[in-house]
Amino acid sequence: MRYFFAALFGFLLLALTVFGIAGRRGTDFRKPPLEIFDDMVRQAKLRPQVPNSFFADGRSSQAFVAGTVAQRIGDHGNDTWQGTAENTGMEPGKTNFVATIPVPVTAALMARGRERYNISCLPCHSATGDGNGITKKIGAMPVVANLLDKNAIIIPDGQVFHIIGQGKAPNMQGYAANIEINDRWAIVAYVRSLQRARFATLEEVPAADRATLK
Ligand code: HEC
Repeated sequence: MRYFFAALFGFLLLALTVFGIAGRRGTDFRKPPLEIFDDMVRQAKLRPQVPNSFFADGRSSQAFVAGTVAQRIGDHGNDTWQGTAENTGMEPGKTNFVATIPVPVTAALMARGRERYNISCLPCHSATGDGNGITKKIGAMPVVANLLDKNAIIIPDGQVFHIIGQGKAPNMQGYAANIEINDRWAIVAYVRSLQRARFATLEEVPAADRATLK
């Protein structure tokens, strides 16, 4: 017991000494408080607009490298497309969506679009686009837009592109971080083909394939 009190007394004395010298954080002193490790508020760093001898031009903040393009958060993909119809889905310099897909629509793009659609959109919008995906069946997403509806058909291609990237309030989030720009256009092309297929007539089906339809 004696030792215990001696140890306790020693500890308290030590704590008092440290406390007395170092002080509390936030206490006002005439001199800066003692810092055993550097406090984060004081650290070596370059402040903007302050001269600095490290660089030949003497500036702390360097000018942008030639060709630097402002990046919109969430829009990954080909940087050289910034601000164009391909990148935004909008007419350059305007606020209206482009009517048609501004990249060449090829068989390869369609195939890519089908693959990407089936990964990113099918769980909610279903394989045909009618909105009866698995998330609706299990009740995770009670209302999913039917992409074969007039609403989804009449909107311009640029708006479908925009919805893929930025989502549609309140219930669909944007996929800009997951689906790069080229793939968004590929999906737009595939969604258009789903809509086209839904309203196709029997005459439009190649004769050889008609028999396989049920
Ligand atoms: C997590 C489920 C979910 C996923 C995944 C999803 N969507 Fe949606 N989508 C919705 C819901 C819900 C709506 C209805 C939004 C609202 O009005 O609240 C919607 C709306 C839309 C609309 C607007 C339809 C209209 O009538 O205006 C389009 C177009 C669309 N989605 C396309 C896509 C595409 C393409 C993908 C794949 C990249 C996708 N969605 C992925 C749930 C989803």
